[in-house]
Amino acid sequence: MGIIAPSILSADFTRLGEELINIEQAGADWIHIDVMDGQFVPNISYGPIIVDACKRASNLVLDVHLMIETPDLIIPEFARAGANYISVHQEACNHLHRSLQLIKSFGIKAGVALNPATPLSSIEWIVDQLDFVLIMSVNPGFGGQNFIESSITKIKNLSKMLKEKNSTAIIQVDGGINNSTIKSVSEAGATSFVAGSAIFNTEDYKETISSLRQNM
Ligand code: DX5
Ligand code: ZN
Repeated sequence: MGIIAPSILSADFTRLGEELINIEQAGADWIHIDVMDGQFVPNISYGPIIVDACKRASNLVLDVHLMIETPDLIIPEFARAGANYISVHQEACNHLHRSLQLIKSFGIKAGVALNPATPLSSIEWIVDQLDFVLIMSVNPGFGGQNFIESSITKIKNLSKMLKEKNSTAIIQVDGGINNSTIKSVSEAGATSFVAGSAIFNTEDYKETISSLRQNM
């Protein structure tokens, strides 16, 4: 069964606690927390304080997606705040291997996120370090964008690459995931699905999450 990871970027922040309870009761598996610094991406969101709030309001796995430059400086803070999974962007790390080691030193699952233009070959030599790979199917920075079709072939190729290297890393896909796109990425090999607007912009989260599962 696939992992549904609602992105709180599209949640109503005037009542975040309530949104987190609703999403948990609706059958979500992970909470995806998009951290943006206004440098790596042209938007600013939130930091460790919101991860800490999520930890206190939810029992779900906290999946922290760092869209920030020099993530090593603040990874310890996210660890202290209660992150269970942390992904860093390949494009933002000068020493990717070191960043992954740092995440793992806190007992946290480590992942690498790849922008739509970034080749799979950029992670070829660190596959053995990875618990998950996040394939961006939109350009990072905003919710509600259209799914980029070439992500399907990229996920297929990644799936092949991981098998060849005997890796059990999870393939996560993020951006434009909804009832019309989830099947193609699931068939391509993704097993963790981030969805922001497709979940939070609906009335009935439980119904939305079940229909995403049915369409996988
Ligand atoms: C984009 C973020 C996504 C975003 C997805 O930079 O990484 O997690 O919230 O939003 P939707 O599902 O609306 O494309
Ligand atoms: Zn994300």
